[in-house]
Amino acid sequence: MVDKQLISDIKNSVNIVDVIGEVVQLTKAGRNFLGLCPFHGEKTPSFNVVEDKQFYHCFGCGRSGDVFKFIEDYRGVSFMEAVQIIAEQAGIAVQSLPQVGAKSQVIDAKQPFYDIHEEAAKFYHAILMTTKMGEEARQYLFDRGLDDEVLRHFQIGLAPGEGNYLYKSVSGKFAENILTDSGLFHISDLGTIYDAFQDRIMFPLTDDSGQVIAFSGRLWREQEEGTGPQGKYKNSRSTILFNKSYELYHLDKAKQVAKKTHELYLMEGFMDVIAAYRAGIENAVASMGTALTREHVKHLSRFTKKVILTYDGDKAGRLATAKALDILEKQTVEIVQIPDQMDPDEYLQKNSPQALADLLEKTRISRIEFLMDYWKPDNIENLQAQIEFVEKMAPLIAQTPSVTAQNTYIYKLSDLLSDFDYLQVEQIVNASRLQMRQQRQKQGQEQENNPSPVFHSGNLQRQLPQLIRAENHLLHRMSHFPYILNDYRLRTDFSFDTPALQVLYQLLCQNGEVTSQDLSEQTEEVQRAWYRMLEEDLPDEIAEHELEEVEETRNRELLRKESQQIGKKVREASHSGDADQALLELERLIAQKRRME
Ligand code: CTP
Ligand code: MN
Repeated sequence: MVDKQLISDIKNSVNIVDVIGEVVQLTKAGRNFLGLCPFHGEKTPSFNVVEDKQFYHCFGCGRSGDVFKFIEDYRGVSFMEAVQIIAEQAGIAVQSLPQVGAKSQVIDAKQPFYDIHEEAAKFYHAILMTTKMGEEARQYLFDRGLDDEVLRHFQIGLAPGEGNYLYKSVSGKFAENILTDSGLFHISDLGTIYDAFQDRIMFPLTDDSGQVIAFSGRLWREQEEGTGPQGKYKNSRSTILFNKSYELYHLDKAKQVAKKTHELYLMEGFMDVIAAYRAGIENAVASMGTALTREHVKHLSRFTKKVILTYDGDKAGRLATAKALDILEKQTVEIVQIPDQMDPDEYLQKNSPQALADLLEKTRISRIEFLMDYWKPDNIENLQAQIEFVEKMAPLIAQTPSVTAQNTYIYKLSDLLSDFDYLQVEQIVNASRLQMRQQRQKQGQEQENNPSPVFHSGNLQRQLPQLIRAENHLLHRMSHFPYILNDYRLRTDFSFDTPALQVLYQLLCQNGEVTSQDLSEQTEEVQRAWYRMLEEDLPDEIAEHELEEVEETRNRELLRKESQQIGKKVREASHSGDADQALLELERLIAQKRRME
């Protein structure tokens, strides 16, 4: 058994565009990146890197794959070597990764780190909850409105003031390298080991399955003069378990709720997530003191399509919201603005848990409403400023799917502008829509004149026979929705007509997923079939009767294919003078045609 999670963590910790970009000059082309294929000589670029799906595809030579496959092919190494190379680039400790051929070590490599973190979390929690030392810190937390139930839910703890209490408590149970690589200890120049966190309130950080992987510690005493400025919060350094650009605080618990509500609140701080919890809202997460990254978004998207951005109400929070909106371009987003520059925790403190709950649930605005407020110029009386503002807003409004919402936005915008009325704003929005449409058409034409360069997945898909498209569609849904896979699994008579897809289907049935490693063990044809299937641009959600319709298409195409084959046999038999055989095949053909009607 190989640790799939580790391999997928490694894959998630890099962006394929960066990795390939180091050796192939890539330029942005629409939603993808385009360059000269490193695998076959070419002068016009046909090598595409698809960022949102993290794979590459060359229309010239047909090669495709994920980041590991690229390294395998580009450097001529094995899959496991490719994993190691990427792990190194990502700064993930490699000494604990297996050497080629020693796969089973991977799983054990992470386990002791989980164990030591769990021990540490228990240790810190016990210090806070049960010791004399913890009493004062607990009082600080009570004063901030937390109670024992909250302290337990978040397993909040206390790191003792000085020395190496944690070290003393766990050192006997773990090997030297586990201790030093855990991020929980520092080694002084003289070689003595001491605890990395001292006299801080400890927030355990968990991965999305709930295992503790790191800590963040908050200073809580008034800082003495002369002790120098220390960061209010301090996080564990990056380790084999902890990549702070990917992990989100409280996601393990929030994701359970998101299954029902289909939305997650994204906040700035731990205390904000805790405030939401106190207000009865359990589906809030926070990034770990870093700005939101694409990796965070990818992580979030595994559990929800809808994000409620709830950053602090101050200037920094509004700036962070605007930036996050760029990164959350594909998600449904709503925004909660906290009044008077407060953060959610302060808002609860100043008002009440119920007031925070109401704010979070009832005062959400849309992306466009936020930007309309955010981009509103200070000198809005100025005509030039108004023009620039309308031109910035118009494309956004034009892209809004709902006509009623469009009208509302046009109305709101014209309301803000002294020199524009509704009709004028509407005209600008319409012009903007027309312009976007023309641009798209122009791009489409360039496409036709220039057969290979820019990658439009739509075009590629249209060239595939309908049967393969239908089967791609089915497999795509199965690989993204476990319940669909299960339905088919139970239908023992079901199989794919396209051999490569059948191979992939069986892999899916066996493992519930197809990992990079599974793929690397398949033939080139099967690997390509996988990526061709992923290129199907399907809506995130399944429409009613969607699968029935796809199956209908598939069945029709299967019958057509069969009758084509029989037709061919009839012709062959009559050419070779075998009248009986020809007649037999003809009868089958007629029966077949009847079935198709
Ligand atoms: N943060 C950090 N390092 C700091 C300050 C902040 O990593 N020196 C991160 C922490 O994850 C924190 C978040 O940024 O939760 C938000 O910071 P801030 O708004 O300053 O903290 P609050 O959530 O308001 O925390 P508190 O109410 O305890 O001051
Ligand atoms: Mn705060």
